[in-house]
Amino acid sequence: MTTAVDAELARTLRGELAANLEAAGHDPAWVKAVREVPRHLFVPEFHTQDANYRWSRIGPNDDAYLSTVYSDRALTTQRDGDEPTSSSSEPSLMLTMLEALDIRPGHRVYECGTGTGWNAALLAHRFGDAGVTTVDVDPELTRAAVAHLTLAGYHPLVHTGDGVAGLPEHGPYDRFITTCRMRAIPWAWVEQCADEAVMVAPIGWGLVRITVENDRVHGRFLPDGACFMPRREDAAGPLFDVLDKVSPTTTSVSVTGLLDRLAFPLSLALPSHNTCTWYDDAGTDTAVGIWTPDGSTAKAGIDGSVRQTGPRRLWDVVEKLDTLFPTAPCRADFGLTITRDRQRVWWRAEDGPGWELPTLS
Ligand SMILES: C[S@@+](CC[C@H](N)C(=O)[O-])C[C@H]1O[C@@H](n2cnc3c(N)ncnc32)[C@H](O)[C@@H]1O
Repeated sequence: MTTAVDAELARTLRGELAANLEAAGHDPAWVKAVREVPRHLFVPEFHTQDANYRWSRIGPNDDAYLSTVYSDRALTTQRDGDEPTSSSSEPSLMLTMLEALDIRPGHRVYECGTGTGWNAALLAHRFGDAGVTTVDVDPELTRAAVAHLTLAGYHPLVHTGDGVAGLPEHGPYDRFITTCRMRAIPWAWVEQCADEAVMVAPIGWGLVRITVENDRVHGRFLPDGACFMPRREDAAGPLFDVLDKVSPTTTSVSVTGLLDRLAFPLSLALPSHNTCTWYDDAGTDTAVGIWTPDGSTAKAGIDGSVRQTGPRRLWDVVEKLDTLFPTAPCRADFGLTITRDRQRVWWRAEDGPGWELPTLS
């Protein structure tokens, strides 16, 4: 829906957002794109959650609309019940990813996760429509993104489908950017790369920057964290009811603060896992739960009891990480090396401690 907003106010607020991004050290060329591409055309409304987890929609008639659209915040634009399924990503995070890509004029760029189309518009604004291909799995979103892009005057190629497959007929691509969380890098993307291609993708709670040099595909994680929504795929829920019938073992790992300290390495060692915490009436954490899309589930209590079920012994992985990382590790110490058959995240050195990622065709 086209929105009747105060265009002058929108320009002023956009200028302030751009100035803040520039003051934070972002590339002036990308900051200029933020200043010149009206984000409100891509986010005609967004969803917010109050302190009681109740959702409401905010649009141009709400006081907070324009100031929020032009703040450095991710804005939920679609949800499935309580679960956000699409958003316009946080502007500073988007610029961090675009800067890491080091795009040059004439490059072809593939984006997995069109969402609102705002990021595709930033790309098209700087480098022209012809080099930009963007894919989203949800036809409702790609339809809306085309409408937003057209309104703003951009016409990149927008395709509906699973972004994991790439789009070989429009490649080879010099740059790949992904704005949904991946469990691994699809090999199809590597096959659609031009020489010396670069990819920036969220893997777990981090952003990996990979270069493709002949047959060597490798890279390191950026120091910045990233909390992208996961790529849509089938996933089993936790089996806590089954755990109640499992005999407990014991662990020496304390659950207090564990999920914060190990959040990043856990997101690599157990791709697409989920966690939850149980609290007592005083707000003290009493147990943590962890589960993966294959149905493996573990629950550990503050009393040192552990119950596990499913194809993988998740708590065994937690115990190893606990030994390796007595304090939260720095993301930039991790890297990723990829071959057709194997993807391995490593810590500190390619032959150091590491974890296999699942291969995606
Ligand atoms: C954070 S949003 C994208 C933000 C977007 N770049 C923007 O500027 O608005 C993540 C998007 O990834 C999409 N997505 C999830 N799984 C996908 C898949 N398998 N292939 C392509 N897109 C996918 C979601 O539908 C969602 O729109």
